[in-house]
Amino acid sequence: MKATMSSFLSLLSVVLLFVPPILTALETETSLTKDYYQKTCPDFGKIVRETVTTKQSQQPTTAAGTLRLFFHDCFLEGCDASVLIATNTFNKAERDDDLNESLPGDAFDIVTRIKTALELSCPGVVSCADILAQSTRDLVTMIGGPFYEVKLGRKDGFESKAHKVKGNIPLANHTVQDMMSIFQKNGFTLREMVALSGGHTVGFSHCKEFSSRIFGPQTDPELDAKFAGVLKNLCKDYQVNKTMAAFLDPVTPGKFDNMYFKNLRRGLGLLASDHILFKDKSTRPFVELYANNQTVFFEDFARAMEKLGTVGVKGDKDGEVRRRCDHFNKLNV
Ligand code: HEM
Repeated sequence: MKATMSSFLSLLSVVLLFVPPILTALETETSLTKDYYQKTCPDFGKIVRETVTTKQSQQPTTAAGTLRLFFHDCFLEGCDASVLIATNTFNKAERDDDLNESLPGDAFDIVTRIKTALELSCPGVVSCADILAQSTRDLVTMIGGPFYEVKLGRKDGFESKAHKVKGNIPLANHTVQDMMSIFQKNGFTLREMVALSGGHTVGFSHCKEFSSRIFGPQTDPELDAKFAGVLKNLCKDYQVNKTMAAFLDPVTPGKFDNMYFKNLRRGLGLLASDHILFKDKSTRPFVELYANNQTVFFEDFARAMEKLGTVGVKGDKDGEVRRRCDHFNKLNV
């Protein structure tokens, strides 16, 4: 009996040796690794770094725009470059939904520039989703933000639908609960939501996003009076001149720091959704924490960005490496 049992066990171990564990197979498909392109595209990191350095010095608004583009990509269908797809006669793509209308051209341009350089160096290897993830990290670091690891191996998605944007991207007039339900859906905690909102330490907002706070018909009494005056003047013709915009962080607009949180305490939060993070007692402790301690903010932001980059990542079965970032490889009609 003992002999039969031991021969059964050794037979089982031989069988197991030859059957690849299903879990491992699935894991390797979607799991990301730091050195994914080490052999197939060894200059990947260098090419991204050099391209973003040139672009950011020519056009300093690139960093903020790219950070927002990455966020919008990841919160809809995961970080799969679906936001980069161009609309055609048969499909209105994500980027042409009203909510994405203000995503800046420079952010799309940086991905195109990097893709072009990479296709010369290692054709057909690097996904657009990885380019967006890596360039966002490099740009955030370049403007003073924290460094974090970007794991690679994302594939580009097969779908991009404008009608799916609404309800998946937070709005300036949302309550903390509205925003939290969107962040929670993507696996984030309240603290992580506040940390990620610290992305508003750089970049702009168009006047229409905060017009009700200044022209409401009354001025929001919680907005700093001097700041409100400046904004009213800046935005006086916003319905005609739709390009008018204000800095999200009026104090150190081009620098990635914790000034955004300090501003919120002083009525200098631009969007209602910014100010509400200070007003709401569930989020205020995190605002205070980050306003008082930039190191903690940087640590939390870095960790949350790493996590953001893993949302809904596609593998070989549900993704591809696009030849052009704005088109699927196969015509999708
Ligand atoms: C928490 C909920 C959020 C809301 C309601 C929100 C809303 C907005 C709005 C309305 C704008 C102005 C868009 C425009 O007029 O051009 C904006 C800009 C921006 N957002 Fe958010 N956002 C949120 C979270 C985030 C997160 C998590 C990030 C990144 C981690 C982010 C990064 C940015 C950046 C960098 C800009 C400036 C873009 C530029 O200058 O081109 N936002 N956001």
